[in-house]
Amino acid sequence: MVVDSRAIFNLGFACNNCCIMCTYKLPEETYMVSFEEAKSMINNLGDVDGNVIMTGGEPTIRKDFFEILDYIGERHPDNDIHLSTNATTFADPDFTKRVARYPKVYVTTEFHGSTPEKHDAITRTKGSFKRTYDGIKNMLKYGVRFQIREVIHKMNYQDLPAIAKFLVKEFPELRKTVIFTIDFIGNAKRNIDAVFVKNSEIIPYVEEATKIFERNNVQVTYFQIPCCMLKKKYRYKVVPNNVSSDRIYFDKKCDACSYRNKCSGVWRTYAEKAGVGELKPIP
Ligand SMILES: C[S@@+](CC[C@H](N)C(=O)[O-])C[C@H]1O[C@@H](n2cnc3c(N)ncnc32)[C@H](O)[C@@H]1O
Ligand code: SF4
Ligand code: SF4
Repeated sequence: MVVDSRAIFNLGFACNNCCIMCTYKLPEETYMVSFEEAKSMINNLGDVDGNVIMTGGEPTIRKDFFEILDYIGERHPDNDIHLSTNATTFADPDFTKRVARYPKVYVTTEFHGSTPEKHDAITRTKGSFKRTYDGIKNMLKYGVRFQIREVIHKMNYQDLPAIAKFLVKEFPELRKTVIFTIDFIGNAKRNIDAVFVKNSEIIPYVEEATKIFERNNVQVTYFQIPCCMLKKKYRYKVVPNNVSSDRIYFDKKCDACSYRNKCSGVWRTYAEKAGVGELKPIP
């Protein structure tokens, strides 16, 4: 299933975690595309100008994971393969060593909390913090490139500065991160009372975490955080157009904003719940 106009393909929904804010309805949505469907999706990407992004569910739990990597390598030999994963499978050193043989693979993964208790309460999977931690240590040991991201909602926004401190201490090799808010679909929609928080609450913690990352030479970018809610010096960190436009909302008043083309707007589902009172066009 091609879920976006970029070179992104989704191998299905099944996962070994069960995050409270996942975009899918887990644990019951377990559909996985077949190997033949995966090949046809890879063929349909056409000429890719940039990275091939492989996501799920959890791509690394598939038995044919390496065959899929081989097929991407055949069809798109010059492109980096961005693998979106919870990194738990990398806790197995043999798996990590095998991935290290694919130098085009670049992992993007997440920590949801600064302690095992906080992270596992969000993934709703006991032991997941430790497996992700061990997985990233294995990536460092065996030479798999990676980036760690923070996906922010009511259950972890106040923990964000502690997550930043934890990451720079434990993974001083980290050079880039992304902080982003959530789309209220799938599990996030049905658990909305547990995960919804207004952006105006989140942003002071985002800015504090950014300071910690930057003091430690980690470059920070933001997805789905509106420029007008940030201090001026942080606005350039917002990446526009990073998801398909039908999931994003710009209000009429955004037409008068000087940041309209630099802004990522807000999730449509966020605007439906929170309204647009927080948005203030920048002259
Ligand atoms: C659905 S996951 C699939 C890949 C992998 N299982 C993982 O968690 O990285 C893809 C990305 O979506 C993020 N994500 C999870 N729930 C989200 C939500 N409600 N809105 C936006 N992104 C979300 C994850 O943190 C991850 O970066
Ligand atoms: S966000 Fe990723 S790790 Fe978490 S349940 Fe969804 S697919 Fe699995
Ligand atoms: S007013 Fe609209 S376009 Fe301007 S910064 Fe805010 S959300 Fe972005």
